[in-house]
Amino acid sequence: MEALALPPTVSGSAPVVGHALQFLRDPIPLLERGYQEHDAVFSVRLGNKPAVILLGPENNRFFFAETDKLLSIREGYPFFIKMFHERFYFFAEFEEYLKQRAILMPRFQGQQMTQYVSTMVRETVDLMDQLGDSGSFDLIPTLGPLVMNIAAHSFLGSDFRSRLGGEFFTDFRHFSAGMEPVLPLWLPLPKLLRSQKAKKKLHRVLGELIRSRRQQPVDPPDFLQTLVESRFSDGRLLDEEMTINLILLLVWAGHETTAGHISWALIDLLQHPDYLQTVIDDQDAKIGDRQDLAMADVRQLVRMDWAVKETERLHPVAYILMRTAAENLEIGGFQVPQGTQVFAAPSVSHRMPDVFPDPDRYVPERFSPERDESRNQHSLIGFGSGIHRCAGVNFAYLEMKVVLTLLLQHYEFSLLDPAPKAVSGAKTKWPASPCRVRYQRRHGVPKGVPRAEQHDTGQCPVEHDTPAGAGQCPVHH
Ligand code: HEM
Repeated sequence: MEALALPPTVSGSAPVVGHALQFLRDPIPLLERGYQEHDAVFSVRLGNKPAVILLGPENNRFFFAETDKLLSIREGYPFFIKMFHERFYFFAEFEEYLKQRAILMPRFQGQQMTQYVSTMVRETVDLMDQLGDSGSFDLIPTLGPLVMNIAAHSFLGSDFRSRLGGEFFTDFRHFSAGMEPVLPLWLPLPKLLRSQKAKKKLHRVLGELIRSRRQQPVDPPDFLQTLVESRFSDGRLLDEEMTINLILLLVWAGHETTAGHISWALIDLLQHPDYLQTVIDDQDAKIGDRQDLAMADVRQLVRMDWAVKETERLHPVAYILMRTAAENLEIGGFQVPQGTQVFAAPSVSHRMPDVFPDPDRYVPERFSPERDESRNQHSLIGFGSGIHRCAGVNFAYLEMKVVLTLLLQHYEFSLLDPAPKAVSGAKTKWPASPCRVRYQRRHGVPKGVPRAEQHDTGQCPVEHDTPAGAGQCPVHH
């Protein structure tokens, strides 16, 4: 039998480096070019190694169904081992991964979820108190800390949250920057060295917190208390290092992604005022000016749901998902040798016109029950699919809906930078700064109580027209 060909290579591969520089600079246009030249299966060269790109629902189904079988996730994300541990989560043996996953998953289901809503509301109301009546702010530097505060409050408790300073945020950002997908991890790059230093510090701070929770449990138990008291199905107590790693995993996996997605969702809405008006009418009808949202309220806000989904389609912050071929395999009539990197690319798959008609247009109604363009579970994959589908997807959706609903309930916004672009480079695709919005309190909406009288706006992403929020800037204090 004749051997199958390797997937075709995208044009523009340079000697030695291949497409590596293009990929490092801006991977999405490279992947779009591959789709135009070769359709749904093709390869790029990263240095001397090929990486195969799979697009579209059928190939996505293969990608997710074969993960942990023909496709290895642990070899797909080699940086994970440096950030966490070789026996941690999907780096562990599959059976061990399932045990660790079983500890996490119940925390993102049912009754547990309803408890997070009040934390999300409280943190957003705090931010609005600091914003005051009118002003402008840069999206990522303002919403990033909000997301971090919500995660810290939800997962580490209100006591830790109240002590949370900018330092934790900075350490965490340094830690996250060590997730380097392309360059070799042995390179003494400043960001990799900083990341390891921040990791040590975070382990120390979180270790102290966990030990204090073991000595003095909080009652009623919150997320952290139940986590430190958790046992595996085989009776083993979750040890300190595993507890720290699980917390860091949640904050890492949920921070940049959610901050980016919320920011894009707001940008998309502001760029489509007709649809925005239907969202506002929907929330006016269902919740009026009530701030004390509960799960039942959030569930009713279907127009916001469709908006957040349409943003997931158009701006998937996790724009690429990575695996490595564990054996020689065959896909789409091509052979893929063992050891080849294999990528799914939501950023390109989500714009295939036979899957999403008129793919470059913002049409949230495509996710209404009548149209339901995501009925094929492998068409919309901004949160992945299969067993490794995002553990925090429900948390993230809830958070994005709560934050956006409250912000839109209180303020009219306009974009000061009207054509935002994603950050360049092979990193989480959030909007590049500056990406500022102007805000003005809507008429008839009750004011929050400003918590102080003055605010030093020296380095602050929030420029207050009024002197609200002194000493409480979400980023600098
Ligand atoms: C908009 C926000 C988010 C996006 C776009 C997102 C996206 C993703 C994607 C695409 C994956 C699968 C990766 C793969 O298959 O290679 C994933 C996995 C994961 N996410 Fe999220 N995520 C978000 C928020 C969160 C939040 C808030 C949390 C936790 C609180 C979280 C926790 C996780 C975990 C633990 C995994 C690993 C799942 C596993 O391997 O079993 N994510 N996420």
